[in-house]
Amino acid sequence: MSDVDAAWTALSTAAGVARDRRIDQLLIAEPDRLSTLTLAAAGLELDVSKQPWSLADLALMLDLARVSGVEAARDRLFAGDAVNTSEDRPALHMALRAPDGADWRAAGVPVSREIEATREAMRGFAQAVRSGAKTGATGKPFRSILHIGIGGSDLGPRLIWEALKPLSPQIELRFVANVDPAELAQALVGLDPAETLLVTVSKTFTTQETLTNAEAARAWLRAALGPASDAHLVAVSAAPERARAFGVPADQVFGFRDWVGGRYSIWSAVGLSCAVALGYAAFEAMLSGAHALDTHFQTAPLSRNAPVLLALAHVFNRNGLGRPIRAVVPYAQRLRLLAPFLQQLEMESNGKRVRRDGTPVRHSTAASVFGDAGTNGQHAFFQLLHQGTDVIPVDILAVREGAEGDPSAQTKLLANAIAQAEALLVGRTEADVRAELTAAGRSSAEIDTLAPQRTFPGNRPSSFLLLDRLDPARLGALIALYEHKTFVEGVLWGINSFDQWGVELGKSLASRVLGELEGGPGGAHDPSTAALIERLRT
Ligand code: F6P
Repeated sequence: MSDVDAAWTALSTAAGVARDRRIDQLLIAEPDRLSTLTLAAAGLELDVSKQPWSLADLALMLDLARVSGVEAARDRLFAGDAVNTSEDRPALHMALRAPDGADWRAAGVPVSREIEATREAMRGFAQAVRSGAKTGATGKPFRSILHIGIGGSDLGPRLIWEALKPLSPQIELRFVANVDPAELAQALVGLDPAETLLVTVSKTFTTQETLTNAEAARAWLRAALGPASDAHLVAVSAAPERARAFGVPADQVFGFRDWVGGRYSIWSAVGLSCAVALGYAAFEAMLSGAHALDTHFQTAPLSRNAPVLLALAHVFNRNGLGRPIRAVVPYAQRLRLLAPFLQQLEMESNGKRVRRDGTPVRHSTAASVFGDAGTNGQHAFFQLLHQGTDVIPVDILAVREGAEGDPSAQTKLLANAIAQAEALLVGRTEADVRAELTAAGRSSAEIDTLAPQRTFPGNRPSSFLLLDRLDPARLGALIALYEHKTFVEGVLWGINSFDQWGVELGKSLASRVLGELEGGPGGAHDPSTAALIERLRT
């Protein structure tokens, strides 16, 4: 048996024991548990002590990481090797957030000077727009940006804006992703074309949804301002020639390279809208926070490495205990878009069924991720987390200092975050419930019926992530933490976390069906699909 197979077998044996053990008992029985399973990195404090592993299990998981080659894979990632094997490309998003003067190489080709030049262009553009030096077709300064993009060209910028936007922004940033015209229609309400920049973001500049929306928004500008409105067009793309062909002035096309994956791209010019709307300094601080987390990931030993510990806790749940779902609940309204962002990051990266060499995976891969802001989630899906038939591990995030508003409400928010983690852990015994019902004078028949319904099994795992403040640097570190966690999981599962072939089939079938809905000749379909097309043909 290979070392890797032996480590996986050890994991399943350990998990078999963990299944019948209580996490709250481990917290009492293992005196070093808290110090071993909590750590601080790049302004984030992580606590994975409420996970189902014992310290001995952790040692096994660290062995699994070692024999799976996590350290060597990480080094290849940072060295700019072509770790995205199916597309023969590096995945070098870390280079985008390194300080000036670095020397990163993508498959041997130096990239740092070009990255710095793009950052300089972004800084200059952000300053020109914000200072009013750059104006629109009628000479008015820009007061709003319409950011059009989808997937990785949308979710990261949307998360960042929601997390950091001022209460009264100098420049309002709105997003349109869906090809459903309702989203663009709503985004345009109240916008003045004379004061609106249209930033189209698409790595490929071929994405149907994005081009449809960009054409409609360009028509909206032209209807109000005529051809001079092309001065309002900005594009971000790894295919700059396509953006120029769309009519974007050459000096307003910002590029990035194909080794930047869409869901890893907010550190590139894809962050331009945020850099303009928040100010370039905020964008730069976000890069520096992410870079600090990169340094931590590269240098901390595996046992004190935040992305590694988060990944190993997940793999213990996912593979050891067979848990296919994970919840993410930030107790911060401003982080409410974290779950949709992580859905793409984790499920597009690691939702794979074959390994890098084309052979089937030997272990289940990415879990489904869902979530919403706490406390809202408590009044929606937490019932299932506490008493449902499936155990769903939860990432709970909290921010010590709120950005605005009533400090006592912020304290209530923190109290709920801590209390939910505790309730998931300890639960409530039936004996305790029975005692309470007896004290309340309920009959024994009533108690027999009610007590099981009011009992909480507990022993439901969570990881806790604490941020002092939700500032650009900590947000950058948080996103980088999840990026590297996703990478480590991909290494353990033997998959390529940087491609996404699974989204292609739906795209090509959609264009075929579109042709038929628009009156083109019918193709071969299953009877159900053919009937739907027939009903909806124009
Ligand atoms: O959804 C598939 C996908 O290819 C994502 O990976 C990507 O982020 C998104 O489409 C948008 O692609 P583009 O930036 O090329 O428009």
